[in-house]
Amino acid sequence: MQFRFTEEQEMIRQAARDFAQNELLPGVIERDETQHFPDALVRRMGELGFLGLMVSPEYGGAGMDTVSYVLLMEELSKVDASASVIVSVQNSLVNWGIETFGTEAQKQRYLPRLARGELVGSFCLSEPEAGSDATQQRTIAVRKGDFYILSGTKNWITNAGRAGLYLVVAQTDPSKGSRGISVFIVEREWEGVIVGKKEDKLGIRGSDTHTMIFNDVKVPVENRIGEEGFGFKFAMKTLDGGRIGIASQALGIASGAYELALRYSTQRRAFGVPIGKHQAVAFKLAQMATQIEAARLLCLRAARAKDRGEPYGLLASMAKLYASRVAMFVAPEAIQVHGGYGYVKEYHVERLFRDAKITEIYEGTSEIQRIVISRALSKGEAPLLVG
Ligand code: CAA
Repeated sequence: MQFRFTEEQEMIRQAARDFAQNELLPGVIERDETQHFPDALVRRMGELGFLGLMVSPEYGGAGMDTVSYVLLMEELSKVDASASVIVSVQNSLVNWGIETFGTEAQKQRYLPRLARGELVGSFCLSEPEAGSDATQQRTIAVRKGDFYILSGTKNWITNAGRAGLYLVVAQTDPSKGSRGISVFIVEREWEGVIVGKKEDKLGIRGSDTHTMIFNDVKVPVENRIGEEGFGFKFAMKTLDGGRIGIASQALGIASGAYELALRYSTQRRAFGVPIGKHQAVAFKLAQMATQIEAARLLCLRAARAKDRGEPYGLLASMAKLYASRVAMFVAPEAIQVHGGYGYVKEYHVERLFRDAKITEIYEGTSEIQRIVISRALSKGEAPLLVG
């Protein structure tokens, strides 16, 4: 097995690297402090094609593959994981969900603006009492003629404050359990759509996370995605791809922290030599680099399986489980290499350390990834790992 990136893949990686270094890095500490991500930067990501990376050109996207998406996510996340989560939710949860399962009318109406970044989307699955146990939806949608009346509360919704569109998962027939859940495209302007409390978070503080309240919102039947009862499968299939994005985010946080530690180890001197010459530091760097490379291979392996039309849910969960653990290993080690400097904001590694933790929580906690992996293995999916 070998990975050789195409010219197009190399181009997106370079574009992401340039954007991250030149446009994300300068204000990243301030955005973390103020918990604000400027609209101008979202527009720039739209102009660069990052927000519609995998959307087909016929709907205004860049039509690129999942491997390109991994490269984009890694480069952005090295510098600013708050930027990369906007890109990840938009691409793998919102755009992919609509393009794969939406009607032609839904695709025409929403995808071009999403792909250009004129419209930002949110994915509303989690609730106060339905996080890991996602089947326990309390949000309900009751059909009344050509509309559904949607009511409920959603928690920890990424992009919620700036979103113009929400994919909302809701019960349409509680007697059917997970088969009674449906999913709807809801527009921000509709009556009863309320952006609630903004969360004050440990990490990814630039990203905009809110509670969302849907108060008797009238949703046209044509805004349901798929058949009634398809909503839970929609969420699970969408999250399979989303987990490749979050795995790549974790990879980027780890590689960003590692690169800072490596550079610092050549500049800082102690006991007469650069600290990287001391085995205590050199061995840390060796272990960090090895784990990062293994995480990168898992991310690319999952992405390639998706691009080839092979099953990828198991690989995506493995990539997310492993890469998030690597981020949680590498980021504190990078602080350790920096010593006291690592503990203050201007050296960036303390932020990467705080940002790393969320990758073990959102889009399925590490415990949920172990459930997904072990269930797949018990069904005999392991042979897919070969070749
Ligand atoms: N693809 C297709 N179908 C799937 C599926 C998948 N990956 N996973 C499950 N299903 C189907 C099952 O086949 C089953 O279908 P049938 O009824 O036809 O048999 C149905 O869905 C129910 O599945 P389970 O019995 O396996 O359901 P479960 O209650 O045991 O839960 C779970 C499975 C994997 C634990 C799931 O609840 C889960 O993934 N939980 C985590 C939720 C999550 O990731 N939330 C993230 C929030 S979004 C977010 O974080 C975005 C952000 O802002 C960054």
